[in-house]
Amino acid sequence: MTQPTQPRKVVNISPHGGTLVNRLADETTRQEWLRKVPRLPRVNVLLRERCDLEMLAIGAYSPLTGFMTRADYDSVVRHMRLANGLLWSIPITLGVSPEQAAGFKEGDDIALFDELGDCLAILHLQEKYTRDKKLEAREVYRTEDPAHPGVDYVYKQGDVLLGGPITALQRPRHELYPELHYTPAQLRQMFVERGWRRIVAFQTRNPIHRAHEYLTKCALEIVDGLLIHPLVGETKGDDVPAPIRVKSYQVMLEKYYPKDRVILSLWGASMRYGGPREAVHHALVRKNYGCTHFIVGRDHAGVGKYYGTYDAQYIFDEIDPAALGITPLFFEHTFYCRKSGGMASYKTSPGTAEDHVTLSGTKVREMLTRGEIPPPEFTRPEVAQVLIEGYRAMAAQNDKAEARPPAKEPTARV
Ligand code: ADX
Repeated sequence: MTQPTQPRKVVNISPHGGTLVNRLADETTRQEWLRKVPRLPRVNVLLRERCDLEMLAIGAYSPLTGFMTRADYDSVVRHMRLANGLLWSIPITLGVSPEQAAGFKEGDDIALFDELGDCLAILHLQEKYTRDKKLEAREVYRTEDPAHPGVDYVYKQGDVLLGGPITALQRPRHELYPELHYTPAQLRQMFVERGWRRIVAFQTRNPIHRAHEYLTKCALEIVDGLLIHPLVGETKGDDVPAPIRVKSYQVMLEKYYPKDRVILSLWGASMRYGGPREAVHHALVRKNYGCTHFIVGRDHAGVGKYYGTYDAQYIFDEIDPAALGITPLFFEHTFYCRKSGGMASYKTSPGTAEDHVTLSGTKVREMLTRGEIPPPEFTRPEVAQVLIEGYRAMAAQNDKAEARPPAKEPTARV
């Protein structure tokens, strides 16, 4: 007779740096700060800074407790490490104009507002400093080209950076499915409840097409659970808007994924399009959410032709796996292979280029805008339908907007 098996003990993976940060004030502290806010100096944050504020508040950026001071900033840009030596690949910064910065002194408490007029947090200013933007562009983005959306942001961001810890007074308001924006603590709890010890995270800024579905399912074969964690913060104008994407995820989950093995959670962060550096960032942050594995496929977080197809995988060769603390799962370029009649990659397909069904993002967008359904080898028909309807609704809105007198130019800061 076999011995009864012990229930498996489920323990979450350790967050980056060892402690899951929580910068959200308790109710008493929050009320105290809210009383002081009218007398505090104020900064209106950019959309990306708003997204970063939430990530800092909920511990997604553990061990960071606020916007970077100079020592961390310099070390991250030059060495991909915080000043204390911990791996970190992307600067997390808050920029203001020199004129505005002149009004602040170190030690000040500054109220940070978003475009909805919500006071999201108090910045306890430790340091204000300037930086070499071109150096940041070269080191982090591997290009100084302002046509690169991440670099463009660096150039446009305020010239003076304000560093220091934050006290968050609330999370930014999410119009889109706020209940799906799980915090790291919530997801960690959900993994334990499901008994998942190994969890793979899938980052995406796109609808889930057949290639994405294949990657996620291959990965799920070797772990206990899959976290589909689409980024829904700021993306560039021609990416599929988040509301349309979320519908497409829901139809995918409904029909094509096993319900008890997959969690969909929206990630309110913004894209940097930083390719290799951003792949490391995406992995570290998913460790904070409790994931043990992270998918890195073809041209992860890439844009245009700035990065080689597998640069975002090669960067992990330079990193000590123990310093990373989450296992990256690398995938070759995948597609439907007609010769073998299934999904495959350059590694597994027996066919040649003519047998591979690949479509560029631009081509797919063109088809969808014309109301054409891409081939089922490329995308599930239900997803195509959601996208076509979404594009139609957007076109109708644009037509209406064109019929109205032009809106005022948006200001640089929200
Ligand atoms: S990203 O900016 O979030 O990386 P995207 O949503 O296109 O963009 O990709 C999500 C993940 O799937 C990334 O890890 C990316 O490398 C991977 N990926 C996307 N398409 C393919 C493909 N055809 N083959 C292999 N990996 C892919």
